[in-house]
Amino acid sequence: MSAENPYDLQEYSGSPRPQAHPRRMRTHAWLRGHRAPDLAGARVLELGCGDAQHLIWLAAEFPQMKLVGVDLAESGIRRGRDVARAAGLALELHAADLCAIDAGWGEFDYIIAHGVYSWVPPAVQDALLRVCAERLAADGVAFVSYNTLPGGHLRCLLEDMACFHVRGVADPARRMAAALDFARRAVGWSAAGEPERAVLESEYRRLADMSASGLYHDALADINAPVLFADFAAHAARHGLAYLDEAHFADAERIWLNAAFAAEVAELAGDRVAREQYADFARMRRFRQTLLVHAGRTVSAHPLAAAVRDMSVAARLTAGPADAAGARSFGDGKSGSITVADPARAHLLELLAQMAPARLPFADALRFAGAADVEAQADLAQFFLVLYSAGMAELELDRTPIACVVSERPAVSAYARWQVGQGAAVATPRGQVLQIEDALSRALIGLLDGKATVAEIAAALAAKVSAQNLPLPPSLPANLTVGELEAVLAARLPEKLAELARVGLLVEAA
Ligand SMILES: C[S@@+](CC[C@H](N)C(=O)[O-])C[C@H]1O[C@@H](n2cnc3c(N)ncnc32)[C@H](O)[C@@H]1O
Repeated sequence: MSAENPYDLQEYSGSPRPQAHPRRMRTHAWLRGHRAPDLAGARVLELGCGDAQHLIWLAAEFPQMKLVGVDLAESGIRRGRDVARAAGLALELHAADLCAIDAGWGEFDYIIAHGVYSWVPPAVQDALLRVCAERLAADGVAFVSYNTLPGGHLRCLLEDMACFHVRGVADPARRMAAALDFARRAVGWSAAGEPERAVLESEYRRLADMSASGLYHDALADINAPVLFADFAAHAARHGLAYLDEAHFADAERIWLNAAFAAEVAELAGDRVAREQYADFARMRRFRQTLLVHAGRTVSAHPLAAAVRDMSVAARLTAGPADAAGARSFGDGKSGSITVADPARAHLLELLAQMAPARLPFADALRFAGAADVEAQADLAQFFLVLYSAGMAELELDRTPIACVVSERPAVSAYARWQVGQGAAVATPRGQVLQIEDALSRALIGLLDGKATVAEIAAALAAKVSAQNLPLPPSLPANLTVGELEAVLAARLPEKLAELARVGLLVEAA
């Protein structure tokens, strides 16, 4: 490729990364017995922030956070600054080399480097971990994601061949087209029935389904070196950083629910890093999103059920029919199922499903489940920890302010209101990016500032439709006067707002 920064040649479209939200980092720290700093007023540094979409999303929810981003590519920083200015959000964005970060930058409670470590030369990898160690507050948490072995061998099989084929082709469109065309041929060259054929086929599908950002910058990058987790942990340790946890809890913990596997690994490996390495071998893991703290901090090897008592819980599980003994099985259709014999606990799961994606404080869950004594409380905390480990529930120390019912004056975040003015993509407070295609829904979302009643919103929406000549969906009658449209909208808004609450877009009043 040419010497020009590839991130200036081809835009890398960032987005909110819920797994790298300080809320998640703090929750996982507490689950390991590490008291990470408060979110309000936290100082957050993102290394290789790209177009700063993640930081902008954080700024909209936490205007009082100090948010600093740095990226080598000027184009991304420029786009980020433009968005932040237009949305009226305060953050500091620097077009600079992360290697140059020194004590003058100050100290940070949370440091994030998503999608950087595996795609930079060893000297920059080293600087990245140095910055994490030197700039991290005493109880701070750093997030570093990277490609891992042994799954990385599979990922690289076709990527390496395609990269060889397009060596020297810098133009993004030609590079991506030539790589995909070659990858398809290479799959055809492999003999049907040979073991590599299935891997190549599935790798081709993965590449063909990637976004331009992912294909050009992640898969076809000149540098893309997966590492063993143990080697990454040793690198972090050389900088005085220790393993805390993964940012995707179930991704890391689910395997340890298998008692036979846990016992087998305990025989083979004495320390936590080695055990995690064996887990990667078992799962052919390709990617990690690791949380680090300063070495010497107390970190529990096992997640602590006691910490769940300070948290809020969410679960969207569907109940199956009761068995002969009255026990019911609950599942989400993908992560497995759990059998619940206690009717009060079954009711609690039903309540959580109705509330989802909003969360219930654990203290309220205790009351609802009738868990009065200490033992019952510990048991319920353990129950939610198992559900979280299995990917069937979510835990948060600091509750995301999602509204589970439509309030008198419904609201979405300032960021979502700004986003709908720009296009179809709208991020929920939990970082899910929704595509809102119809103009009427976008206009509605833009009006949800928490100040207007539903009737006032209907009037404002009807006026906006008429003033801007917005297209109406076919489900609405055509050729209505503004007054008639207001009446139709007023009748339909409660259902539409309930739908926005169900997808997690409505926030609690400030
Ligand atoms: C794959 S992108 C990830 C962007 C963003 N973190 C995200 O998740 O969307 C990697 C970013 O690292 C930046 N980068 C690479 N080397 C860097 C360096 N030495 N200093 C600062 N940024 C760097 C690139 O310019 C690019 O924007």
